[in-house]
Amino acid sequence: MQSKAKGAPRRVRVDLGERSYDILIGSGLLSQTAEYLRPLKLGKHGVIITDTNVEPRYAGPLREALGKGGITVEVLSVPAGEGSKSLRQADRIFEKLPSLGLDRQSFVIALGGGVVGDLAGFVAASYLRGLALVQMPTSLLAQVDSSVGGKVGVNLPQGKNLVGAFYQPRLVLADTDTLATLPARELRSGFAEVIKHGAIRDAGFFEWLEREYKQVLALHPDAVARVVRRCCEIKAEVVSADERESGLRAILNFGHTLGHAMESLSEYVGLLHGEGISMGMCCGARLSVKRAGLSEEEAGRVGDLIAASGLPTRLGGSFKLEELLAAARLDKKARNSKLRFVLLKRLGEAVVSDAVTDADFVEVMDVCR
Ligand SMILES: NC(=O)c1ccc[n+]([C@@H]2O[C@H](COP(=O)([O-])OP(=O)(O)OC[C@H]3O[C@@H](n4cnc5c(N)ncnc54)[C@H](O)[C@@H]3O)[C@@H](O)[C@H]2O)c1
Ligand SMILES: [Zn+2]
Repeated sequence: MQSKAKGAPRRVRVDLGERSYDILIGSGLLSQTAEYLRPLKLGKHGVIITDTNVEPRYAGPLREALGKGGITVEVLSVPAGEGSKSLRQADRIFEKLPSLGLDRQSFVIALGGGVVGDLAGFVAASYLRGLALVQMPTSLLAQVDSSVGGKVGVNLPQGKNLVGAFYQPRLVLADTDTLATLPARELRSGFAEVIKHGAIRDAGFFEWLEREYKQVLALHPDAVARVVRRCCEIKAEVVSADERESGLRAILNFGHTLGHAMESLSEYVGLLHGEGISMGMCCGARLSVKRAGLSEEEAGRVGDLIAASGLPTRLGGSFKLEELLAAARLDKKARNSKLRFVLLKRLGEAVVSDAVTDADFVEVMDVCR
C-alpha cells in the first residue's frame, strides 16, 4: 500500500481509567504506524498476527512502516475464516511464540478482521500473562465493532466465543483504505453491525444511514469515515459505561442471540456473522413490536434498511425451529436457560428483556421464515 496519511486522523477516546485508549480512524494510517505507536512506549520487538488473505496485502507494508521507526516484527498467519477462531490455532501460535525472543515489553498487532482481532487478542491476553495489544482492523466489521471494547476469545464446537477474556488494546488504528480490498459480501456483513449501532443508540444516525447507505457501501471516503467514527463513538460510550457487561453493554447484542444460534448451527460455514445478525435483527424487531412497544413502522424500517443493503432478512428453511430455540437458550447471555433478547423500545433505544416467551419465539420465527 503506497498511500500516505491524508490529514489528521479522527480520534475517539475509550474512557476506562488506566486502561483508556484511543481509536484513530483515517486514510493512510498504516504507513504511519511507527509514529502512532511511539507515545505508547512499547518495546522494539513485536509480532503481527494476521490471516492468509490480509498478510499478502498488508503485512509487508506494515513491517516496512514499523522498520522505519526501528521496530522489528515477526509475522504469524492463520488460515482466513471463522474456523481459525479456535483453541487449535491459538495453540499453534503459542507454540511458535517462545522461539521469537519476545519479552514483557514486546507487543502483538492484530492485523485483520474480527477473527484475527479476537484470536490475536486472546493470545496477547494470555501469553506471558499479557502482552500489549494493538488492534489494526482491516474489515468494516472490525473497524466499527470488534476491535473496540476488549472482548477477545475463541469458539468451541459447542458455541461462539465460549473461551475468552476482557483485554483492552493499547491502541486501535483503523486505516479505512484497507476496506478497498474487502470482498463486497464481507463489506455488507460489516454494514449489519453499522445498522445495529444506529438501531440501538442513535435514531438520527439510523436515518442518515437510510439516506446514505449506498455511499457507504460504495466506500465514499467521507461516508466511510463518518460511519466508522460514529460506530466507534457509540461503542466507546457503551463500553466505558459498562466494560464487563453487567448491564448496558448487553444492548450491543441486538440481533445476536439468534445470529449466534444460526452461526453455531451452520458450524460457521456459509453464513457470515453480519448475515446471521441481520436475520437476528429482523426477528428482534418483530419481537420488539410484541414485547417492547416498538411501532410497526419502525420495525419495518429496520427490515427495509437491512434488505436495501443486500443483507438477508429471512431465515429460509435451513434452520429447524426446535434447534434454533435450543441454541438460543445455550447463548451465554441466557440466564437460567430463560430466553434473553435485546429489544428496541423505539429506534435508538434498546433494552434487555426476559419477556420473550417460547410461544412468541415460535410465532415470530414463523413470520420471519
Ligand atoms: N470482539 C468483539 O467485540 C466482536 C464484535 C463483533 C464481532 N466479533 C467477531 O468478529 C468476527 C467477524 O469478523 P469479520 O467479519 O471481520 O470476519 P473475518 O475476520 O473472517 O474477515 C472477513 C474476511 O475478510 C478478509 N479480510 C479482512 N480484511 C480484509 C481486507 N482489508 N482485504 C481483503 N480481505 C480482507 C478476511 O481474511 C476474511 O476472509 C466473528 O468471529 C465475530 O464473532 C467480535
Ligand atoms: Zn456482532
